[in-house]
Order: sequence, then C-alpha cells, then structure tokens
Amino acid sequence: MTQEDKNDVANLIEARRDYTADTLRRSDLASGPVMQFTRWLQEARDANILDATAMNLSTADAQGQPHSRIVLLKHFDEEGFSWYTYQKSDKARQLAENPKASLLFYWCGLERQVRIEGRVEMLDAENAESYFQSRPEGSRFSAAASIQSAPVENRGLLERRVAELHKEHPNGNVPRPEHWGGYRLHPHRFEFWQGRADRLHDRFIFERTEPDSDWSVQRISP
Ligand SMILES: Cc1cc2nc3c(=O)[nH]c(=O)nc-3n(C[C@H](O)[C@H](O)[C@H](O)COP(=O)(O)O)c2cc1C
Repeated sequence: MTQEDKNDVANLIEARRDYTADTLRRSDLASGPVMQFTRWLQEARDANILDATAMNLSTADAQGQPHSRIVLLKHFDEEGFSWYTYQKSDKARQLAENPKASLLFYWCGLERQVRIEGRVEMLDAENAESYFQSRPEGSRFSAAASIQSAPVENRGLLERRVAELHKEHPNGNVPRPEHWGGYRLHPHRFEFWQGRADRLHDRFIFERTEPDSDWSVQRISP
C-alpha cells in the first residue's frame, strides 16, 4: 500500500452520500410497529438485501459496559424478536446480569434503520431443540464442538473436535449442546428511520409503557 493509498483510506471526511431512495410519512405507517417491521423486512428481502435478517444485538453488563454483535433474527411476532445462540456465551452472561437489550437493523440499499428496545427472556429447551434440528448438519456439529466465547488455543482443536463428533455420530444426529438455545426480546420501543436528502431524515417512534398497552406514535427530528 502506497502512502497515497493510506491517505485515501484515512480520509473519511469526504465519505458520505445523500439518501434519496424513499420517504416515510405518518400516513405510510402501519397501525402497529410489528406490522411496520413486517413490511420493511419484506421489502428488504424483496430488494435482495444480503443478510436482511442480520441484526445488531447490544447488551450491557452489570458495570454498564455495552457490548454489540450481530445475530440472525429467526422469528418475530407481537410477542417479540428471537435469535439463537450459546446460553453460556458472553452475551448470555450479560443478559443474565441485565436483561435490557437493543436490536438494530440497517438495510443499506433501502437507506433504512430500525431500532428495537426491550427486555430479553430465555426460550425453553423444547423451542431450542426444534430450531436446532432444523439447522444444517455442519452448523449443528460446529455448535456442538464450540463453547462460544471461551478461549481456544488454535483452530486445529476446534476442527479435531468436529471430526471426533462426526465419528461419534456417524448418522449426523449430533445432540444439541445443553446450553444452546434461544432468546426473545419483548419490545417497548421501536424507531423507524428513513434516510432523506440533505440529512433531513424521517424518524418515527412507537412506544408503550406496559407490555400490553397501546402503542403511541411520534415523529422525531432527524
Ligand atoms: C452475519 C452474522 C450472523 C451471526 N449470527 C449469529 C447468530 O445467529 N447467533 C450467534 O450466536 N452468533 C451469531 N454471529 C456471531 C456473533 O456476532 C458473535 O460473534 C457470537 O455470538 C459471540 O458473541 P458474544 O461473545 O458476545 O456472546 C453472527 C455473526 C455475523 C457476522
């Protein structure tokens, strides 16, 4: 890399674009946030956005330190938004300390962002088993071989563990690790953000104070 290339990479000041793909007016909004999310997710999938179901999950530990990572949304409805993971991972430990979390979707091609905040609960073993069995064989073996977020000396150890598990379970039916399963976030706040020209973006908040109360809607400034 030449010095000139390095300077180009480092110069982020000019890295910007205008957002003109769409608009979001109050009259466009669905009657509730889950319906609005359904519409936008469908539009993201129709637009062939890669990893449209990938969402940033932010948790905070007991010291208030935030931690973010991507997970894949696997189910959503009025009850909440679910994903699967290792229930002894770092995120699991943080959720045990503090069940408040936030989800973030960014659909770049549509210039849209959705933020969802709420409380997280662990899903039961029956639910975990049913989703685990629907996963491709390779993913099931990798999950069984890995203690997510625990230190590992080298990649070879993981690959050897996968190979051993294949020998132990030649029919491909590796059991679900005991601590592998789902979580569901029950939302109390959504924000739908549509990028607009000159940074005068459209933003709407849906909020409720009680788990079953009605949603209020508010436009907020960009
Ligand atoms: C596109 C993408 C999808 C991912 N999906 C998941 C997922 O569904 N579940 C999961 O546990 N980790 C998933 N990961 C890995 C997580 O980002 C993270 O590395 C892992 O869950 C460990 O996080 P933790 O150490 O904070 O617990 C995904 C990563 C990417 C980039």
